[in-house]
Amino acid sequence: MFLPPALARIPLPANRRYAAVRTRLRHAVSDMIDRNRTEGGAIGGDLLTALLESAPATPDSRTELVDELILMLMAGTESTATTVAWTLHELSRDPDRWLADNQHPAVRKALIPFGGGTRKCAGDTFALTESALVLASIMSRWTVEPVRRNTVRLAAYGALQPQGLYLRTVAR
Ligand code: HEM
Repeated sequence: MFLPPALARIPLPANRRYAAVRTRLRHAVSDMIDRNRTEGGAIGGDLLTALLESAPATPDSRTELVDELILMLMAGTESTATTVAWTLHELSRDPDRWLADNQHPAVRKALIPFGGGTRKCAGDTFALTESALVLASIMSRWTVEPVRRNTVRLAAYGALQPQGLYLRTVAR
């Protein structure tokens, strides 16, 4: 995904698998656009309907629309999933550290996880709301415990993922 184009074109097995999967994904998203155009939006007020209303139906805009939708899918899933995974990891180690009384007021301002300026993350509020809801749903029913200690490593994919993270859920 992040290889320079010249390297990505070398027909290695991994590159060919990636190209095939990318083509499948683009077709699936393209079909979704066709269905939305012929049948209308599934729920109304959704992102695809809003993008379609603002885009002319030309081949160039179709390519751009597919790019935009795939960007939203990628930017909006791995980032939040990784955030939730790291948070569960932290909660499994020391839940008390995260209680409101133990928070330092400067901590919030020391972090800029969504970047800044004109290219700031377009989904920041959505991501925070989604993460809080997911974590509240999980933590209200279960506590999390580490299965194996000290196996978690940073793995640099699209986001920095916790590789080797194993957690056990215990009903409250
Ligand atoms: C915890 C979750 C997330 C984190 C940490 C995060 C972080 C970021 C960062 C650092 C950037 C680049 C900002 C820059 O270049 O200065 C970005 C861009 C972007 N993010 Fe997120 N993001 C998250 C969730 C989401 C979600 C849920 C969506 C969509 C539903 C989303 C959509 C986007 C888009 C479209 C951009 C590109 C904005 C542009 O270039 O105009 N992100 N994000």
